Amino acid sequence: MNAPPKHLSLLSHAKVNWFLRVLDRRQDGYHNLETVFQELELSDEFDFERQPENGGCVLQGFPADIDPQVNLVRRAWELLRQRFPGKVHGIRVHVNKRIPRGGGLGGGSSNAATTLLALNTLYEVGLSADEMQILSAELGSDVPFFIRGGCAIGRGRGELLEPISRVPAYHLLLVFPPHGVSTGEAYGRLGQAGPRAAGSAGLTEVVHALSMAGPSRLAKAIHNDFEAVMRAELSFQQTISALDEAGCLRAFLCGSGSTVAGLAKDKSHCVEMSERLGNILDVAQCITCTLAGCAT
Ligand code: C5P
Repeated sequence: MNAPPKHLSLLSHAKVNWFLRVLDRRQDGYHNLETVFQELELSDEFDFERQPENGGCVLQGFPADIDPQVNLVRRAWELLRQRFPGKVHGIRVHVNKRIPRGGGLGGGSSNAATTLLALNTLYEVGLSADEMQILSAELGSDVPFFIRGGCAIGRGRGELLEPISRVPAYHLLLVFPPHGVSTGEAYGRLGQAGPRAAGSAGLTEVVHALSMAGPSRLAKAIHNDFEAVMRAELSFQQTISALDEAGCLRAFLCGSGSTVAGLAKDKSHCVEMSERLGNILDVAQCITCTLAGCAT
C-alpha cells in the first residue's frame, strides 16, 4: 500500500444560492431553509503539509483580520483531532485567498470542508464523503455542501443535501461591494423585516429551469429572501441597477449577502457585461465566473 502524501494542494470553491427561502426559526436558534447551492469556479488555493504530532495548526496567508483561534480551518483540524485521537498530527496550511469575506459566497465554510478533505487524505482517517458531510455540520450549516460541491438542494439548516445532476454551464458576473455582511446579523435583520412574501417561483421551478430550460427561464425562477433586507441599502440598489443596465438577465444576492451576481446569457455576454459594468459602476472588484466542473 502507498504511503499517504506529505503535501496536498486543493482548491476551495465558492458558492451561490440559486434559491434561498428562510422558513421557521427553530428551538436551537437556527432557521430551517429551502435552498439550492451551486459551486462556482472561483476558489481559494490551499497547500497542506503534514507536521509532527506537536506541530500544531500553522496558518499562513490568511488575512490578518481573521482571528486564527476561530478560523474554520483550525476548527476543522481541532474537530478531527478530537474525534480521532492520535491519528491526526500537526498541519501547516498555506492559502491564497481569492473569495471575499462576508460576501455570502461561503468562503469560510468551503475552507473548513477542504481542510477536512485534506486531513482525511494526509492522515488516512478513512472517513467516507457521507461521514464527512455529517461531521462537517458541526462546523457550520453550509460546510456539508462543500464536501461534494456541485449543485444540490439544501434543507434543514442547509445540511440535508440532495444532489442535482447535469447542470449545464451558466455564466455569472460577481460584484463584491466594499463591505461584507455577517451571516448571523443577516438572519437577525431578516427576522426584523417581518413576514416574507409568498408566491415567488418555487424550488421545483428553479430545479427544472437549471437542468432543462436555460438561462432566461432560470433568471425568472431565481429567488433569495435576504434581498428583502438588503433592498433598504443604497449600495445594493445601485449594484442591482448597474447590473441591469449592463444587460444581465437577472441580478441577485449571493447567500446572505453582500455579493451581487448577474446572470448572463452565455460566456461572451458575460464578458460584454463586465466591460459595460466597468463604465457604469465604480466597483471595488468585479469578476466573471462560471460554475465549477461545467464545460464552458
Ligand atoms: O451555521 P453557521 O455557523 O454558518 O451560521 C451562522 C449564523 O447564521 C448562526 O449562528 C445563525 O444565527 C444563522 N443561521 C440561521 N439558520 C441557518 C444558518 C445560519 O439562523 N440555517
